[in-house]
Amino acid sequence: MNKKEFVKRRKQLMRMVGKEGIAILAASPMRQRNRDVEYPYRQTSDFLYLSGFSEPEAVLVLIPKRPAGEFLLFCRESDPEQEIWHGRRAGLAGAVAEYGADDAFPISDMDEILPGLMEGRKRVFYTMGQEEGFDRRVVEWVNQLRAKVRSGLQAPSEFIDLDYHLHDLRLFKSRSEVATMREAARISMRAHKRAMQVCRPGLMEYELEAEFLHEFRCAGAEPAYSSIVGGGENGCILHYTENNQKLNDGELVLIDAGAEHEGYASDVTRTFPVNGTFSPAQKEIYELVLASQEAAFLKCKPGNHWNDPHEAAVKVLTKGLVELGLLKGKPAALIKEAAYRQFYMHRTGHWLGMDVHDVGEYKVGDGWRLLEPGMAMTVEPGLYIMPARGVAKRYHNIGVRIEDDIVITRDGYDLLSRGIPKTVAEIEAEMAK
Ligand code: GLY
Ligand code: MN
Ligand code: MN
Repeated sequence: MNKKEFVKRRKQLMRMVGKEGIAILAASPMRQRNRDVEYPYRQTSDFLYLSGFSEPEAVLVLIPKRPAGEFLLFCRESDPEQEIWHGRRAGLAGAVAEYGADDAFPISDMDEILPGLMEGRKRVFYTMGQEEGFDRRVVEWVNQLRAKVRSGLQAPSEFIDLDYHLHDLRLFKSRSEVATMREAARISMRAHKRAMQVCRPGLMEYELEAEFLHEFRCAGAEPAYSSIVGGGENGCILHYTENNQKLNDGELVLIDAGAEHEGYASDVTRTFPVNGTFSPAQKEIYELVLASQEAAFLKCKPGNHWNDPHEAAVKVLTKGLVELGLLKGKPAALIKEAAYRQFYMHRTGHWLGMDVHDVGEYKVGDGWRLLEPGMAMTVEPGLYIMPARGVAKRYHNIGVRIEDDIVITRDGYDLLSRGIPKTVAEIEAEMAK
């Protein structure tokens, strides 16, 4: 991301914080996986959004209109010996030179310095409840100042949720964010095609997962979330991640896997027959899900509300389920009583961005939020047919989800996850390659 973009984001946020406020944001801590082994480090998206700074043990402080500098970073100091063991650090000089901080301080000095920075500010913009230990320190700093008000010191009197302001900024994607997300989706496209080409009966689910990891890492990307590779009935488990079963002839495989590229996620699902050819029953369900996705897409435009695409998908799915004999009754009544939930139990999408389930409110006041240009989201209807009474055997264990990524434009939407085979004909052709 261009450095100017970070400056712009901080400026926008500081405008909301105002000259009587101070914003504080802590980096994600390292997390232990098992003895002496840590999980791969991932900075919080909020921290990355505002600074691009991807080291742990850091705190970002924004103090609008502070004459001595508005953007401060507390971080680890350079330490040649530590860096030989654990990797490079930006250090204080790097925080200023590379990340544009007006000033940088050692993270170990935070308790001495931060209360002073809060002095004279009325409002602390900080999100409680994410890191208990850090919450306590923030409150302690404020209390230290409050204890000194009799000596004429001005202590903050209000805590304000930083998320509320920051996440509304993150909801609207800039041109360079959209370009980055498009690239993430392109990497996913290559991986999904590769999986279709290599799939055959007898492979293990994790062997297909490996194709994704290969393609992602070859592009310098990584999975935006744990890849789901579910053959047969596993395709009906929404968040199946064991990926350790054999892929059988005559079954479908559902793959929900997306690359994260430069901090931005893609989130793509394709479902295809393990042997390369859809059976008639699989095709019936697949084409119904596809039709529901098309109906949802038509509702993806400014002025419609967040729930419109979902309602359109539910309408098509319910009508189709009646036609296939999987639901009995009148579609309107079945929608009202949410009968479709037996086969379609999730929603048709979510915001997408630096987090796969990205930040941003879905409702404002009592109503659904209206779609506006720059909002990025997934469109992902599905049907999951578990064996049950009244469910024809030919449909048993068919799980289908089709998921694509879009960004709302001035007059509709832009499909980010382009070029990934999706119709029955396209998928069968790709698998025959
Ligand atoms: N991959 C998670 C989701 O589709 O929401
Ligand atoms: Mn999704
Ligand atoms: Mn997904």
